[in-house]
Amino acid sequence: MKKGKFIVFEGIDGSGKSTISKLVFRKLNDDYGNTHLTFEPTDGPIGSLIRNILNKRIIADEKTLGTLFLADRLDHIGNPVSGILTYLEKGIHVISDRFYYSSYAYHVPPLSLDWLINAHTVCTEMLRPDIVFYIDLPVEESLKRLKKSRQFRDIFETREKLEQVTLNYKEALKREGKKDNVVIIDGLATVEEIFKKVTEKLSTIIE
Ligand code: ADP
Ligand code: TYD
Repeated sequence: MKKGKFIVFEGIDGSGKSTISKLVFRKLNDDYGNTHLTFEPTDGPIGSLIRNILNKRIIADEKTLGTLFLADRLDHIGNPVSGILTYLEKGIHVISDRFYYSSYAYHVPPLSLDWLINAHTVCTEMLRPDIVFYIDLPVEESLKRLKKSRQFRDIFETREKLEQVTLNYKEALKREGKKDNVVIIDGLATVEEIFKKVTEKLSTIIE
């Protein structure tokens, strides 16, 4: 049996990842059947702990938070019941809203990009995406969208943090992007335009 394809969406908060991943999920389900939509932080036990830190219910050191995301990702990939690998092996396509580029972007500082890339070899040896869509959106626009759509802000949803995260994404894509099939998407385009570009690219990797 042919393995499923692993498709990842990346970008700052409010860039449109969850909107487009849901649309693509529906399209792949209609066209090929059996597709799985997932996200990070996950809804598993480590992901729940992370969400409690992000919404300030639990206070934790930021290095601890950075390493929790790595643990959450390893479980996301390798969990014997619900891990991404179990779906791919059954021929099911998997779409993930965020993956390791998020760690490279959100945890520098306090962790270094070198440290994060090295630590992630445990993850990249298990799984790399077949395609990564990076939705590039100016921070100003992301903040406008977040103001409209979210009642509560998590600890990273500030202008200063998102500017740093944007620089980090660009640096990480420059360093690691050659190892992955990365497609940069203009986040200022309409949802329809983005959906068209993404589905066109997907048709080149999914027969
Ligand atoms: P993310 O998952 O990256 O945080 P969302 O998909 O939740 O982003 O989108 C954040 C907000 O922006 C939502 O209100 C959504 O409807 C809106 N949005 C998403 N994509 C676009 C777009 N291309 N143009 C304008 N608004 C968008
Ligand atoms: P998410 O629910 O995707 O937020 P949004 O829809 O606003 O993009 O992610 C929650 C937060 O987790 C977001 O601020 C980014 C952060 N995050 C990290 O800091 N490191 C990571 O490795 C991942 C996957 C997410």
